[in-house]
Amino acid sequence: MKHATRLSDIGLADVDRILATARAWKDKPHPKHLREKILGMVFFNPSLRTRASFEAVMSRGGGSAIVIEAGSGSWKLEDRLNVVMDGDRAEHLKEAVPVLSRFVDVLAVRSFAHGANDDVDHDDAVMRSFQQYATVPTISLESAREHPCQGLADLLTIEEQFEPKCALPVTLTWAPHIKPLPKAVPNSFLLSAAARGCEIRVAHPKGFELHPDILGEAQSYAAASGGSISFFHEQDAALSGSRAVYAKAWGPATSAQLKPEVVREHADWMMTARQMERAAKDAIFLHCLPVRRNLEVADEVLDGKWSRVIDQAENRFHVQRALLDWMLN
Ligand code: CP
Repeated sequence: MKHATRLSDIGLADVDRILATARAWKDKPHPKHLREKILGMVFFNPSLRTRASFEAVMSRGGGSAIVIEAGSGSWKLEDRLNVVMDGDRAEHLKEAVPVLSRFVDVLAVRSFAHGANDDVDHDDAVMRSFQQYATVPTISLESAREHPCQGLADLLTIEEQFEPKCALPVTLTWAPHIKPLPKAVPNSFLLSAAARGCEIRVAHPKGFELHPDILGEAQSYAAASGGSISFFHEQDAALSGSRAVYAKAWGPATSAQLKPEVVREHADWMMTARQMERAAKDAIFLHCLPVRRNLEVADEVLDGKWSRVIDQAENRFHVQRALLDWMLN
């Protein structure tokens, strides 16, 4: 049974296949390849793009989607093991997931990191429980650890712009934010770009390191694909000559470390036109959205010539259509 809860579930060869299918189908009439298929989606956290794009994929492909917002019109779901369920969580994943599996062909889940501790989040307990208890293929709609569909859409957006034939310089830069946001998006961009052989520069202030397991996995992909990864604590150096700039806010290793003065101190990491001018002349700007304007990214970048954020969001549809085809057909 195929799963897509993280990039390693898919594997590098099938990442190639999925991106190739996504590109090949992009300008063609919608194939009815998901006829009679039902996708179940369980959201523990809000979404605009992920929910809308997967619902559109199922509908355009001739199938349908069931959406459960856990705790909002459905029971609150418990994932912890061996607990006395005397709180407000009325149903355990041990029952809920196999029951949903009886009704759908694929089960997808969104469950963000709590952000209190990186090692705990990195364990990805809710996603792993879904995979364990499901009897159908599972997809991550963003878990504590990865957002694989976003990572695939990010690389499709870069590759349709540049047709890279050799290691393309791309920069993943930390951005300021008022909250300690999860690391799933930067993790997945790093893993996907490494899998596709990019020359990756990762820039962030000290104290905002990504998890060592993700860095190790990305290094192994880069070694296999001919890519490379380097790290910067100074944003300008990481941007110099870059062809694609990806800005994303993420938190430190523990939320206790995100003090207001830390964010104020690094306010100049917000992407502005001045920073984009340091990148290559034809550089593009990416962000997974939603984005806080003039905190993470200045209006002049999001509204400027560099921005591909709307194309990038559209590409969620195209890669997910190809992903479901790979998974089900
Ligand atoms: N990028 C992304 O996953 O968007 P949503 O949170 O709106 O789904």
